[in-house]
Formats: sequence, structure tokens, C-alpha cells
Amino acid sequence: MEQISNSQLQEHQQQWPALMGRAMELAASVLSAHPNPRVGCVLEKQGRIVAEGWHEAPGLPHAEAMALAMAGEQAAQATVFVTLEPCSHHGRTGPCSEALINAGVAEVVIAGLDPNPSVAGQGVAALQQAGIRVWQLSDFEARARALNPGYFKRREQGLPLVRLKAAMSLDGRTAMADGEAKWITGAEARADVQRLRLASDAILTGVNTVLLDDPSLNVRPENLRFSEAEQQANSQLLRRQPLRVILDSQLRTPAVARTLGIEGQCLIYTTAEAAGSRSHLAKAELHRVSSESGRVHLASVLESLARDHECNEILVEAGPTLGGAFLSAGLVDEIIVYMAPKILGSDAKPLFEIAGFKSLDHCIELQCQDVRQVGPDVRLLYRPILSTD
Ligand SMILES: NC(=O)c1ccc[n+]([C@@H]2O[C@H](COP(=O)([O-])OP(=O)(O)OC[C@H]3O[C@@H](n4cnc5c(N)ncnc54)[C@H](OP(=O)(O)O)[C@@H]3O)[C@@H](O)[C@H]2O)c1
Repeated sequence: MEQISNSQLQEHQQQWPALMGRAMELAASVLSAHPNPRVGCVLEKQGRIVAEGWHEAPGLPHAEAMALAMAGEQAAQATVFVTLEPCSHHGRTGPCSEALINAGVAEVVIAGLDPNPSVAGQGVAALQQAGIRVWQLSDFEARARALNPGYFKRREQGLPLVRLKAAMSLDGRTAMADGEAKWITGAEARADVQRLRLASDAILTGVNTVLLDDPSLNVRPENLRFSEAEQQANSQLLRRQPLRVILDSQLRTPAVARTLGIEGQCLIYTTAEAAGSRSHLAKAELHRVSSESGRVHLASVLESLARDHECNEILVEAGPTLGGAFLSAGLVDEIIVYMAPKILGSDAKPLFEIAGFKSLDHCIELQCQDVRQVGPDVRLLYRPILSTD
């Protein structure tokens, strides 16, 4: 495979960044293709786009197959721009590398290799063996990963991407002392959270939030505020609910908990030794994992979600105890905070319960990645700075 950067492109390749950019846009129009990656594809011939494709959901055509079907005979001698290496294996659909070879395309330009061990370079090799020139547009590699951060993390580390979301006041409080928390933020922020839920493969919370708030933890399409185009691009996704996951070391979740009774699958992770009530077992799939200080071992939960449920991205919507525990364990990839223009006072609950820091040397350092106004609230996106020790 030939690596080429934007600055090395020849005269006849000057359109390549724009065409790959378009393929990226197509991929991003779908919020999640779980458990598959989001992929976009553009076919170019004689300077114009002859077909476009994207992958919507497992079992549906891959981006390349969709574009080839749209192109018909025009696919012969076309240049293909695809955000991820074409697959080479027989999964739910046939291998895309074979379809591209059979269609007689001239060249294939990819943004990144597929970390899936049953593809990992073999898609490129199959194309090359058939005499098709394959390029990697190296300036797009980081964007290819950013399109599917959870997919890459699961394939490379056996763990899902963990996104921790919380709503807080200006003074960093997330609920009143008695647990009252509805609603700290406005309707726009709550619609944004609905999008986060839709893009996630699982929504995870702690048993205390279930006991105090009795949340549904589901996607409510009517609250998404989608445009018609967004509605269309995500029509498959809107037919499913993300998994709902409760971490409950002593099986205290009540059988009548709202989240157990609604459409979609619910999982409860507990410890091997938990002997609490099992009356809700009929409504939830129970997983027993090892414990740490008497509580569910968080890394084991994440490994199980990646391995047993193919979760690429999970959203933690918990209170300060579980949020603090995920952070202290170094298991968080992103923190999204919606900050409301309110002061809840010092009796209210904090954003994270993390005890024991004695000096600034102990603090968890974050990098702010994005700030935007959402209705009356401010949405902040942070990523922990990984220690280099
Ligand atoms: N503002 C917001 O964004 C937001 C979001 C959600 C909740 N809330 C508020 O948060 C409050 C509840 O917060 P909370 O801190 O009490 O509850 P929480 O963080 O939702 O749940 C904590 C519980 O999770 C269980 N757990 C299981 N494994 C754990 C582990 N490894 N580490 C830590 N906990 C583990 C523990 O119970 P066991 O030991 O029994 O398993 C623990 O008590 C409510 O008032 C709710 O309204 C606010």
C-alpha cells in the first residue's frame, strides 16, 4: 500500500482530500452502526462523483457495496475513496474487497486500516493481488480513528470507549442532598443527551441512581429534535434501544425499577458473592463479575461489555460515587458536563466523590476539548491527560 500525504499529491490527485472529506461526512451522518464501524464511500470518475455510500447497521450493505450498487456500470475504472479498509471476510454481508475487484475499479484510496483481526490488512492485500493500486491518504488517518474511537479501542484493547456524562450547577453540584435532581439543565441539553444515548451502545448507571431517580435510561425519539435528514440517516438506529446497564454489588435493584420494564435489554452486573433479591432476574440479564472492596470490579464490567455485547461506546450516567470510581480507576476516555446557570449550594451533592487527595500533585488533570452553549447551559468536553509514568 502506498502512503501519501496531502502535500505529496500530484496535479491529477488534487481533489482527493475533498473526496475523502465527503466520504467522512457520509460516515458521520449515522450516529452509530453498532457493533460495526461507521464507514463512508465515494466513487469518482473523470473528476466527478458517480456514487456515494455509507453503512447504516449490521446486516445492511457496507458503504462500498451501497456505492457500487448506485454506480452500476460506472464503477468500472472509478477511483474509490473509503474511510476504512474494505473488508475481506464473509460476515453478515460478502467481502467488499471482492465486490470492488468484480466491479473493475481502478484505484482505492483509504483513510485507515481496519483493526478487526479478520480484516487487518487483508482487504488491502486482496485488492493489490487483483492488480488494484491502493493508497492510504495519511492526513486522514487520525480522522478515520476519530470517526470510530470506540470501535478502535475495542478491537485494540478489548475495552469500550467510556464517556461520562453529568449535569451540574455552576458551583459543581449534581443533585440536592435528598437526591432531587430533576431538572438541573434545560430542554436543549436534555435533547443533546438523547443524541449521546442514541450514539452509545450501552447506558450505564449505579444502583443508587436507580433507587433515588428511577430513570428510564432509554432513547426517546420524540425528544431528539432531529432534522428530517438526520431522521432518515438514523432510521435503523432509531429502531433499537441501547443496552441499559446497572452496577449493583448487592442486588438492591427493585423489581419495579422503571428501566427494567421498558423496551430493550437490561443488564445487571453484580458480584460473585451477592445474595440480594433475584425477583428481577426475569427482566434483566444478570452478570456476576469479580469484586474489589466488596463492589463490582469496573474493568471486568467493561471487558464483559466489549466481549459479550460488542459494545464500542458506553455512556456512564451515574451519580458522584460511580462517576468518581470510574475516574479514580483511570477508565474514563471523555467527560461531558452540562453546566447550568444555577447555584445549588454546598449541601448539594458534588460532581464526583473522590476522597484522599492531599495535594495538587494528586489531582486528575484534564484537557478541555470543546465548549459550546446549549440553550441556557454550557456543554464542556474534557479528556483526561494520560500520565506518562
Ligand atoms: N446530575 C447528574 O448528571 C446526575 C446523573 C445521575 C445521577 N445523579 C444523582 O446522583 C445521585 C446518586 O448518586 P450516588 O453517588 O449515590 O449513586 P451512583 O453513583 O449512581 O451509584 C453508586 C452505587 O453504585 C454501586 N456500585 C457498584 N459498583 C461500584 C463501584 N465499583 N464503585 C462505586 N460504586 C459502585 C454502589 O452500590 P453497591 O455497593 O450497592 O453496588 C454505589 O453505592 C442521585 O441523587 C441522582 O439524582 C445526578
